[in-house]
Amino acid sequence: MRKLSSILVTGGSGFIGSNFIHWLFARSDFSGRVINLDALTYAGNPESLADIDARFGGIGATARYAFVKGDITDRGLVEKVFVDYDIDTVVHFAAESHVDRSILGPEAFIRTNVLGTYTLLDVARKAWSVGAAGAASNGVRGDVLFHHVSTDEVFGSLGDSGYFTESTPYDPRSPYSASKASSDHLAKAYFHTYGLPVTVSNCSNNYGPYQFPEKLIPLMILNMLEGKALPVYGDGRNIRDWVYVEDHNEAVWTIMNRGRAGETYNIGGENEWENITLLRRLIALVAEESNRNPASLEALITYVKDRPGHDRRYAIDCSKLKNELGWKQHFTFDAGLRATVRWYLDNQEWCSHVRSGEYRNWIEKNYITR
Ligand code: NAD
Ligand code: TYD
Repeated sequence: MRKLSSILVTGGSGFIGSNFIHWLFARSDFSGRVINLDALTYAGNPESLADIDARFGGIGATARYAFVKGDITDRGLVEKVFVDYDIDTVVHFAAESHVDRSILGPEAFIRTNVLGTYTLLDVARKAWSVGAAGAASNGVRGDVLFHHVSTDEVFGSLGDSGYFTESTPYDPRSPYSASKASSDHLAKAYFHTYGLPVTVSNCSNNYGPYQFPEKLIPLMILNMLEGKALPVYGDGRNIRDWVYVEDHNEAVWTIMNRGRAGETYNIGGENEWENITLLRRLIALVAEESNRNPASLEALITYVKDRPGHDRRYAIDCSKLKNELGWKQHFTFDAGLRATVRWYLDNQEWCSHVRSGEYRNWIEKNYITR
């Protein structure tokens, strides 16, 4: 039986990780604690979890939330976190996550996504290994789990038809997806070679609150509010499958509870959109929610040079997760998109903080590691 009681969340101050922590603490059946290990890169913001810190943080046995500022490639630190907090579960979100940045500078992606994942896996393996007594047959504790969060981009690009399944061969095409593919292989290798209880999920494009405004949806919303150009790459007809971040996180938690060790599960929204069609839907919602003229927002659409190696279409078959573990999506695209637009309208301060270089300096000076 998995303990799921002292959970190391890596990258908990980023988009999906911070939503995961909010979601977990809102569940009445979760009584464990969360240790958030995050390096606070440009994409991590402790403000996203200020309410969780205020309600559940603190020092001592009763605290249910702790933040540790640090890098997942720092082996000594990761080992200390495992010992200090008696970690029994890892959910690994930390990554460099933006394709465009990976094209500009792949090195950070290799470091964090490949070396960082290796470091976590290796520390977990050693921390959780036991002698013959009390050991599962493979010499690793039977009550632990390492859940590795990954992307559908590892499968490459689809044509007009077909879906990615769990057995689709890997064919990553950007430095980002290549680094994630590598991390997936390492996670599975640690299961097969060392018996580390590992589960992997490959998810399609997420959207929702707290997403850094470099990704399509928040970037477009903020550009609309500021009257800036809406840059559409290429012909705008690339297709992504979109899933609301809460549905993704419920899937992750479902896998952590009931997923079989050594297995991969695809997660998706079953919700494919061409970028340009999505953008027009977003324009209508922003116009409605902020009393702007849709025609003046439409006029901001600007076709720009395509992203090099731009994958044409992603589409997910998530029937394994649905049939085996009983998960399903709860958010329609309209409901999720409207909630997202409202969140960005209502959280302008967060938006200006994450985009401000001064804010980064402030974090360095003021955020105290504990
Ligand atoms: P994000 O970029 O918003 O957040 C990443 C977080 O990791 C940040 O808080 C950052 O500070 C932290 N981090 C980066 N390097 C680190 C390091 N070396 N040590 C410690 N912390 C570090 O990313 P996200 O969109 O929340 O994605 C989370 C995970 O989900 C990633 O593994 C990503 O590959 C995967 N994923 C994302 C999507 C998506 O649409 N965003 C879809 C599928 C899978
Ligand atoms: P993005 O949010 O970067 O996610 P990913 O590349 O991981 O799928 O991009 C989503 C889609 O939107 C992708 O096809 C690229 C496109 N795109 C634009 O057309 N303009 C933009 O400014 C951005 C950031 C993305």
